[in-house]
Amino acid sequence: MRIGVLGATGPAGSGLAVRLASVGYDVTIGSRSKYRAMEVSDKLLAKWPGQDLSITASDNEGAAAADVVVIATPWDAAGATAASVQDELAGKVVISMANALAKVGHEFQPLVPPRGSVAASVQAAVPRSHVAAAFHHVPAKELGDIAHPIESDVLVCSDHPSATECVIDIVSSIPDLRALDSGELSNAAPIEAFAAVLLQVNVRYKTRVAIRFTGLDGAGPASRSTAAAHAATAAQDVSGADAGES
Ligand SMILES: NC(=O)c1ccc[n+]([C@@H]2O[C@H](COP(=O)([O-])OP(=O)(O)OC[C@H]3O[C@@H](n4cnc5c(N)ncnc54)[C@H](OP(=O)(O)O)[C@@H]3O)[C@@H](O)[C@H]2O)c1
Repeated sequence: MRIGVLGATGPAGSGLAVRLASVGYDVTIGSRSKYRAMEVSDKLLAKWPGQDLSITASDNEGAAAADVVVIATPWDAAGATAASVQDELAGKVVISMANALAKVGHEFQPLVPPRGSVAASVQAAVPRSHVAAAFHHVPAKELGDIAHPIESDVLVCSDHPSATECVIDIVSSIPDLRALDSGELSNAAPIEAFAAVLLQVNVRYKTRVAIRFTGLDGAGPASRSTAAAHAATAAQDVSGADAGES
């Protein structure tokens, strides 16, 4: 499966890109400038020699041609970025990882974007796609350090069950990440806003925290092998009978 990451020249997108490549996905680094994408791709490949990473570079349009696409831009650019490649994204699972936050003095404060969350704004911008929200609380630096496992829960929500399952399978393919089905896309609002709490804790305790829920012993993730099938199902859902779903 090929995963394209739009805005992958930033720390979050490049960290996720290299982590996904490290577990065997073909990854395309996307950027508004294919030359910036090439620089980042070259740097990642040079940083991790011998890892046999499948990473290529393109502009955002080229990255949006992948099977599953992640939007990793700042929150206020996510909807417009998705809309700019809406034809490429039609029928696909699109992952929104942006958090709408402002730093006011020493405080991180959550903002309320149009439609209540960034993910909902992205879904509205690309109604022919199946948007899922995920990866909001995983620190970029740890994501990008593929020499070490990264331990965290990853909350996944979507109005499209096949998109939730597809993203859960992708997350579950990364050792020590645990994907949790967190319901419909309306829950993206508190999930995104909670990132402000984590950043505040990071500042207070001079660390980089991730989240881990208790009380879930025995809850098993779906297997990775079904991710491609879920991506295909999502495509069928959009192009087929429930095309008007979103
Ligand atoms: N940093 C973290 O630890 C972390 C963790 C989880 C989630 N997130 C979320 O992930 C997203 C990306 O975080 P980041 O720190 O990597 O962000 P960033 O460095 O500020 O931006 C990422 C990339 O987005 C592109 N971009 C910037 N402004 C744009 C615009 N107006 N229109 C289109 N593209 C634009 C740029 O790529 P090009 O110029 O190359 O196009 C930039 O390199 C954020 O929404 C953040 O909330 C971050």
